[in-house]
Amino acid sequence: MPLTASLPRLTRTGSGIDWERLESTARAAMTRAYVPYSRFPVGAAALVEDGRVVAGCNIENASLGLTLCAECSLVSNLQMTGGGRLVAFYCVDGNGQVLMPCGRCRQLLLEFQAPGMRLMGPDGELTMEDILPHAFGPADMTGMTQQAQQAQPTHPTERTR
Ligand code: THU
Repeated sequence: MPLTASLPRLTRTGSGIDWERLESTARAAMTRAYVPYSRFPVGAAALVEDGRVVAGCNIENASLGLTLCAECSLVSNLQMTGGGRLVAFYCVDGNGQVLMPCGRCRQLLLEFQAPGMRLMGPDGELTMEDILPHAFGPADMTGMTQQAQQAQPTHPTERTR
């Protein structure tokens, strides 16, 4: 049975994803934003393949380029609460309206997407392929990660001297 089957039926699309729950979670996350510089709060929420819902908000910094987008906060939350892959994603601005992820955050989401992940766009559901076509992603790094694992030095605690 699909993990989302037990969730209430949604109204906006026929995919079976509970978009209303993600929307309300994203809006709640948005109220946590730390945005003294832009005054542009953002909230994001996503359904994880195991049924968890993770969320994030943007966190700005006096060194403006260091700002963390809501999606950064969300993937940190994802990893720190057990990892996994994202099935569905919803992002809102300060008015609670759908906000499309910036370019950098599209790449962040790509890293953690479950196959076929859906995103809510202004006119309905989208896929990662729709918003980041011909992407560079984890598959391109397969050879590199294998080489890196082979070359990895022994951890200091495992060394004999
Ligand atoms: N922002 C996000 O949190 N996510 C995006 O995808 C777009 C931009 C934030 C960063 C900054 O705090 C504010 O929106 C204005 O750029």
